[in-house]
Amino acid sequence: MFQTPTHRDAALALDRSDPLAAARGSFEIEEGTIYLVGHSLGPPPVQARRKAEAALDTWRSDLVRGWNSAGWIDLAERTGDRLARLIGAEQGSVVVTDNVSVNLFKLAAAALGLCRRAILVIEEDEFPTDQYIVAALGNLQRIEVRRVPAGEGIAALKEGGVLIKSAVNYRSAGIADITAHEAEARRHGALIVWDLSHATGVLNLRLRANGALLATGCTYKYLNGGPGAPAFVHAASEIAGKLSSPLPGWMGHAAPFAFEAGYTPRGGAARFASGTPPILSLASLDGALDVVTGQALADLQAKAQALGAITIARAKAMGIALLSPEDDARRGGHVSIRITQGYPVVQALAARGVLADFRAPDTVRFGFSPLFLKFGQVWDAMEILADILSTRSWDAPEFHIRAKVT
Ligand SMILES: Cc1ncc(COP(=O)(O)O)c(C=O)c1O
Repeated sequence: MFQTPTHRDAALALDRSDPLAAARGSFEIEEGTIYLVGHSLGPPPVQARRKAEAALDTWRSDLVRGWNSAGWIDLAERTGDRLARLIGAEQGSVVVTDNVSVNLFKLAAAALGLCRRAILVIEEDEFPTDQYIVAALGNLQRIEVRRVPAGEGIAALKEGGVLIKSAVNYRSAGIADITAHEAEARRHGALIVWDLSHATGVLNLRLRANGALLATGCTYKYLNGGPGAPAFVHAASEIAGKLSSPLPGWMGHAAPFAFEAGYTPRGGAARFASGTPPILSLASLDGALDVVTGQALADLQAKAQALGAITIARAKAMGIALLSPEDDARRGGHVSIRITQGYPVVQALAARGVLADFRAPDTVRFGFSPLFLKFGQVWDAMEILADILSTRSWDAPEFHIRAKVT
């Protein structure tokens, strides 16, 4: 759809015809900053600030009554219904709760209860938290865990089992074929728990059409919900009623305020709610969703991939090794490159206003949030990278000092 620009003016021309240009007005990003880490922590939309402030006001004015007066008690499900539209899932199949790590545990444990054979499968290039959770769940349940090479997860499901799989890989940005995976899993009586952390808000996700039944993902990346914004759980209606959460907290109970001794789960995905929802964070997320709701998901994906294509073309011209697929259709919203001195290079970029992230041991990752980035900015960021590399300005002592979060 987009012609990859070969000079700055062509990039600026793309900005003039960008169908998402109006969304940029919602973001409060300092002039001079090129924010290429929206895939790590999205910046604050004004709508998020407004709804978070309104929740603080209600807390002051209504006190505990806010749970009813402001509908806080249903906010996790209302926000879930808004998210369902963004992942192509049906209403009632998404609830906002906990974080991805906890949700992976809950979903994988619940899925094991429905599988032909209790085996957990994970590919070795998955995000570390996914690996840790799978290993711990396997230990707890004393079942086999198969840690297989990248791309071989589905082949390890021939006897059934549960595969935990990212729709977009956190390092390479490679996209998984959800439909093909689900078809194969069904043939073997297996289930897949999708990690949508790097896919939600940047891919044109169609979970229902693709046959995906179970998923979780975070909301602080492309959805801009805020630091530590809660994650979501998706459980399709054809399976949700058969699933038991291993953490059946009172908010997943059908009647939490009946204070019954026995546990009756709620219908749908809401049974995966556990404890009291974080209302201030949920309010911020609810506001942030005002920006993305109403945008065409296909536009978001096309723009993110076009911004990635600029980066890939420029990185190749600089002779830098790519860790992401060159083919736009196989790549999510970020691009990773390999730079041995990646850490100081990322610090040198930050000193010039270009924020990117570093993933040990040698990955520099650029995220292309389509709601606020401009084509011209990505062009400029690559010019700055070229300058930093050619002048070796990254080799100043201050750029080698390691921070806790990279
Ligand atoms: C693919 C993936 N899964 C899981 C997580 C961690 O999620 P959480 O911190 O919500 O547990 C991340 C964080 O960046 C991620 O990229």
